[in-house]
Amino acid sequence: MPTTPTHWTLAARAAKMNPSVIREILKVTEKPGIISFAGGLPSSKTFPVAEFDAACAKVLRDDPAGALQYAASEGYGPLRELVASQLSAQSAAAGVPWDVDPAQVLITTGSQQGLDLVAKILIDADSRVLVETPTYLGALQAFTPMEPEVVSVASDDEGVDIADLASKVGTGASKARFLYVLPNFQNPTGRTMSEARRAALVAKAAELGLPLIEDNPYGDLWFDKEPPAPLTSRNPEGCIYLGSFSKVLAPGLRLGFIVAPKDIYSKLLQAKQAADLHSPGFNQRMIAEVMKDGFLDRHIPTIRALYKSQRDAMLAALQKDMPSDVTWNTPVGGMFLWARLPEGMNAQELLPKAVDKGVAFVPGAAFYNDHADPRTMRLSFVTPNVDEIRTGVAALAAAIREHRSA
Ligand SMILES: Cc1ncc(COP(=O)(O)O)c(C=O)c1O
Repeated sequence: MPTTPTHWTLAARAAKMNPSVIREILKVTEKPGIISFAGGLPSSKTFPVAEFDAACAKVLRDDPAGALQYAASEGYGPLRELVASQLSAQSAAAGVPWDVDPAQVLITTGSQQGLDLVAKILIDADSRVLVETPTYLGALQAFTPMEPEVVSVASDDEGVDIADLASKVGTGASKARFLYVLPNFQNPTGRTMSEARRAALVAKAAELGLPLIEDNPYGDLWFDKEPPAPLTSRNPEGCIYLGSFSKVLAPGLRLGFIVAPKDIYSKLLQAKQAADLHSPGFNQRMIAEVMKDGFLDRHIPTIRALYKSQRDAMLAALQKDMPSDVTWNTPVGGMFLWARLPEGMNAQELLPKAVDKGVAFVPGAAFYNDHADPRTMRLSFVTPNVDEIRTGVAALAAAIREHRSA
């Protein structure tokens, strides 16, 4: 049958969507034999397979109809209660009590969906939104289709610079809708906001009437000392908090959560209904089943110990092999370390040479909204094992030396 040519007209917002640079890099690095410091993939050794196996069978046996039927958009009640009680307990232990009501917890399809829902309800075309420098690329991807004016706030080892924040908030119609911020073991830099900076940020945001979007997927993965209390616990009405099960249980289940003030919650819920009706009920029940006897309190310390040993291996290998003018930080939790090449070098240009030597990383430029620092690189220490870390760092150091002398 003859067909007539079809002309598709894309929405303006579609033109602003870009493939994730990281996903493109991952395609290269997934080649066999490449040691990858590029991906943000939790170690698959940490997935509690036996516990999920048992929970899966129990959920199907106890309530197959409930687990497999359409369900409430807010999420599975017992899971919302577990999230609320865990956050309340953690904040109390950190010295800033935050009484989280399960009615404020919205279960999402990963915290990535949380970012998408936040973007949909808070950003108009040309709205100003503030981000750290650098910031999580997936957040920029979630915000961009809403066509905001994204403004980077200068940041140091402890996070956003408060004076620069105040100068960039704007007024009237151009006043920023929110600041997106990652206080714990940030992706990409691995840095952590100090107690003093948190207190100052929350006070300044309250003074300016600036909402904070606090993204905390890594907060449980501390190595020696629990990080200071979340920003949201200090001003729950002024913040939206995003959490995730991806880094403490398994990313493949695609579950996370939002805690929001009540008025905002109802809008997020409507956006969620339009997006996917609800997150997978079966997965929510499995996670609730796995969590219900305090499993995370036993499981998370094993992830911390593993990641700490891998961070230590990476720090020791960097110290041993890197030219003396390469610098890096010492993350106190999470999955990433941030390194900087010597003056005049460019991480993007180094990458193909590193891949030729069998090692990959993400050039830091990918994480800047503007004014990228071309010398920076994000190195993940959680996916390869300790031997691979040593071999990979030696290969990276060799690539840097060759690239410099070329
Ligand atoms: C800072 C940050 N936020 C959100 C996400 C999304 O995580 P998920 O959707 O798996 O919960 C990630 C994933 O790596 C992340 O690094």
